[in-house]
Amino acid sequence: MTDAPKHPPLAFSGMQPTNTLHLGNYLGALKNWVPLQAKMACLFCVVDMHALTDDAGYRKPGDVTRSTYEVAAAYIAGGIDPKRSPIFNQSRVPQHAELAWILNCVARVGWLDRMTQFKEKSGKHTERSSVGLYTYPVLMAADILVYKATHVPVGDDQKQHLELARDIAQKFNNDYAVPGYFPLPEPVITGPATRVMSLRDGVKKMSKSDESDNSRINLTDDADAIAQKIRRAKTDPHPLPNNQNEFKGRPEAENLINIYAALSDDTAEKVMRQFAGQQFSTFKNTLAELAVSKLAPITAEMRRLMADRAEIDRILKSGAEKAQSLAEPILADVKKIVGLVG
Ligand code: TYM
Repeated sequence: MTDAPKHPPLAFSGMQPTNTLHLGNYLGALKNWVPLQAKMACLFCVVDMHALTDDAGYRKPGDVTRSTYEVAAAYIAGGIDPKRSPIFNQSRVPQHAELAWILNCVARVGWLDRMTQFKEKSGKHTERSSVGLYTYPVLMAADILVYKATHVPVGDDQKQHLELARDIAQKFNNDYAVPGYFPLPEPVITGPATRVMSLRDGVKKMSKSDESDNSRINLTDDADAIAQKIRRAKTDPHPLPNNQNEFKGRPEAENLINIYAALSDDTAEKVMRQFAGQQFSTFKNTLAELAVSKLAPITAEMRRLMADRAEIDRILKSGAEKAQSLAEPILADVKKIVGLVG
């Protein structure tokens, strides 16, 4: 098999409009998207069809709609320039779903059986989960490959899904003897906070679905709530560590230091040099001030944008038109490659 052709750099990423975005989504993903815009073409999607995969019993149609606008508002407030990088919702570009079906026929059941997020989300009730939840990573692969995206900036929890996307791309290229047709998308997992942990339990990921609202800082929280959640965050009785070796057995200390580092655009080492030996109560006050100063302007801008859904809608529609113009010829190619007529 010959070498892959060189694909022009293109970044694609997305977030699910389920519940409210939190600090993990911001530091693990959105914050890293902003500087990428200066380096390559980017597409940022609100993956609304993914939001249908969890249990509809807990979700109202209006929740997905509201959250779609909120996620789009967060993208813009967080620094994505929609004129430069199209922002759009997935369901407006039907090529995602069409390619997902074709890729469902490429992906193997054994591959999906290994996906840890499905196991976590379905829990003990695998057979009662939606089929959509099971094939979710294939739709995610389609999201990326329908644009031949080369880079995918995400948090650490998406690593396995991206490996699957690469496997699917490779198998498609092999099965249909089109070497290098799809690029093998590169995960871009950067910064000191690729995995932000719960504020209540340093070994659990900060998550939209955690029952405790105190476990996360929402991008809609006001200054008081942010400060209070940080001050109440679980810690241990020891002073702040000196270096990373001292993180052993201290996941909460590691988490708060990484959050500080990401918010202040520093390394964890530098933050430790600054605070080593101090009490958590002092550190938490400084962290709370830093978090409020960085997040409050984003929250305020989100609120302003959310007051005008029509404006967000114009942005999503125009983003979808641009995205569709990129996806259409690729899907047409793929259909030809697999032998579909039309
Ligand atoms: P989602 O909506 O769960 O999360 C959106 C982004 O936030 C990151 N993230 C975190 N980063 C650090 N710490 C955390 N605690 C944390 N929680 C979430 C996620 O890694 C992600 O980057 N499957 C994806 C959405 C998706 C997608 C795609 C992403 C669908 N299609 C194509 C990239 C490309 C998801 O559920 O993300």
